Amino acid sequence: LQGLKFRETNLMRIVEESLAAVHCPDRIAVEVKAALHNEAVWMDHKEMVMVLKDLEQNAIDAMPEKGVLTVTADGDENNIILKVADTGTGIPEENIPLLFTPFFTTKAVGDGTGLGLPQAFVTVKGHNGEITIESNTDPGKGPTGTTVIITMPRKQKFQTKDAKVILHEEGD
Ligand SMILES: Nc1ncnc2c1ncn2[C@@H]1O[C@H](COP(=O)(O)OP(=O)(O)OP(=O)(O)O)[C@@H](O)[C@H]1O
Ligand SMILES: [Mg+2]
Repeated sequence: LQGLKFRETNLMRIVEESLAAVHCPDRIAVEVKAALHNEAVWMDHKEMVMVLKDLEQNAIDAMPEKGVLTVTADGDENNIILKVADTGTGIPEENIPLLFTPFFTTKAVGDGTGLGLPQAFVTVKGHNGEITIESNTDPGKGPTGTTVIITMPRKQKFQTKDAKVILHEEGD
């Protein structure tokens, strides 16, 4: 699975480590909302910390003034939902189809390479999950900002530590 190292881990620890790894200026309030009855997940811990850290950095970059960064963890028995939301400028509609294209960036040279969202896409897909982005740039339509939503299975099908995965038998 694309070099991912799956192991049993704790979703809120992933959230906490991602926030600890990102520099959040004082002008931005951070909210963590957890509505999980069970925090146990089967994921590549390090890669998921990186995904959330990149999304949080994008959120912070989108809020040059005051703002709120909200990270939400939710889910049920089978799936988990992670949301990274900001109250920033929003993403213009014409840019939405470009977000997962490597090297698409609106940031100054040196500030961004345009690899955060493409890498997040690859990692989430590697966990058999989905990533979607909702955004509003028009204050006339409501509060501006962006929410990135990740849904993933809590566990992968083949997760027994020492199980050998045989996709098909060599027939004769
Ligand atoms: N939360 C957000 N609010 C507004 N724009 C965003 C947000 N997230 C992403 N974008 C837009 O999408 C572009 C691509 O994001 P992506 O994370 O892939 O690359 P980057 O942040 O520019 O660079 P890198 O992540 O490699 O440092 C950004 O340059 C920005 O224009
Ligand atoms: Mg980025």
